[in-house]
Amino acid sequence: MGGLYELLLHGKPLFTRTMIEDAEKIWTDVNTGVLVQGAEYKVPVHFDHDHSEKVSLQVPECASDQQRVLDFDDYQTVCKHIAANSTVRPAFSLRTIPSRHLRDKTCFIQPSDEVTWETLREEWERNPASQRLKMLIDRHADRLQHVDQIVCFALGALDKTRKREYTQHLAACTIRDALEGPPGCSGGKKIAKILAQDPTYCDNCTSILLRSTGIETTTGFEGTLQVTENTLVVCISPSAPICQMLADLAFEAGRKMPIAMLCNDIDDDNYDEQNHHLSPHPARYPTADGPTQRLIEYKNACVEDIFTDFPDNITFDGHRYTSAEDWRADPPPVGPRMESVYAKETGERIEQLKAESRICVRGRNRSLFGDLRLYVRKGGGG
Ligand SMILES: C[S@@+](CC[C@H](N)C(=O)[O-])C[C@H]1O[C@@H](n2cnc3c(N)ncnc32)[C@H](O)[C@@H]1O
Repeated sequence: MGGLYELLLHGKPLFTRTMIEDAEKIWTDVNTGVLVQGAEYKVPVHFDHDHSEKVSLQVPECASDQQRVLDFDDYQTVCKHIAANSTVRPAFSLRTIPSRHLRDKTCFIQPSDEVTWETLREEWERNPASQRLKMLIDRHADRLQHVDQIVCFALGALDKTRKREYTQHLAACTIRDALEGPPGCSGGKKIAKILAQDPTYCDNCTSILLRSTGIETTTGFEGTLQVTENTLVVCISPSAPICQMLADLAFEAGRKMPIAMLCNDIDDDNYDEQNHHLSPHPARYPTADGPTQRLIEYKNACVEDIFTDFPDNITFDGHRYTSAEDWRADPPPVGPRMESVYAKETGERIEQLKAESRICVRGRNRSLFGDLRLYVRKGGGG
């Protein structure tokens, strides 16, 4: 399978600038009403390196409590299709998903709400993770001195009932402030902008973020196209293969990857080099932004630090993990996999393990960031 995959790619990147620009154009046309529901749009196919072959798709229906997303196949999905012998696949397609954000207007603060963006900001400033993030940036100050912009991906639409999204945006501001240094300090620098890309921002999210944080937003692919080697990228649990794309676009342009990325772990432990895809690992959740050869090369060219607000008190008393480190090495086998992972246990014991595991998962979900890494290119920028 790896052989066929190699043959189809000829060492070329799966994601190309032309492909992303095509996506951006279609996305703009749909959002400005040039392409309406039912209209035909044409999408390049994978492995067609001169971009001459296209398939026709139709703009799907979208109700007022739904939103459109433009989905890209990641490397791992493409590998699966090669295995199934179906290689002519659209590189991306429009689909609609239910949107709690639009339905419940989660970014509109009412006078009766206990939470405001200001209270969340104060909470973040008191959170020890905020200080740790600042110290982390300070520790790498020399290597980060050429950063001129911050581009964020997948931080999500604002939701007053969840702290994660807004706090993740505030964390991008903490990084900017740490890079710029205190106002008026000698040797201080200016970060030109923070741009955040997520298809789920509504107009209200956009104006709140600009007003309260100075962050500019895009629902299209402007962020992907604007990343350069002097960018610091923040990308947290995306449901699109963002880091895979950034690595391919840098390779295609013959430039270096971003100076730094604060993102999920680039997991080379479970990477099957021969087949260029993630080897099946029963205990791991599949991710939309798994490792690729180019991302692993980037990881190897970087110094790496953990940034997490992940709880330390994980004590699942099943067979394998009792601490945060154990969890990282071997996350909980929850749900349907439990029966196969613990095939020799009785039904009652499995139920007990499931219950304990759920408590751990809930503990983890109290975290605002999960388990992130800061990758900083050893050579720095410039
Ligand atoms: C699992 S959520 C993570 C949200 C938040 N970062 C968190 O940790 O809770 C995945 C996010 O990826 C976003 N996403 C999907 N496609 C994207 C794209 N092409 N560019 C940027 N973000 C995207 C989704 O809209 C969603 O907000």
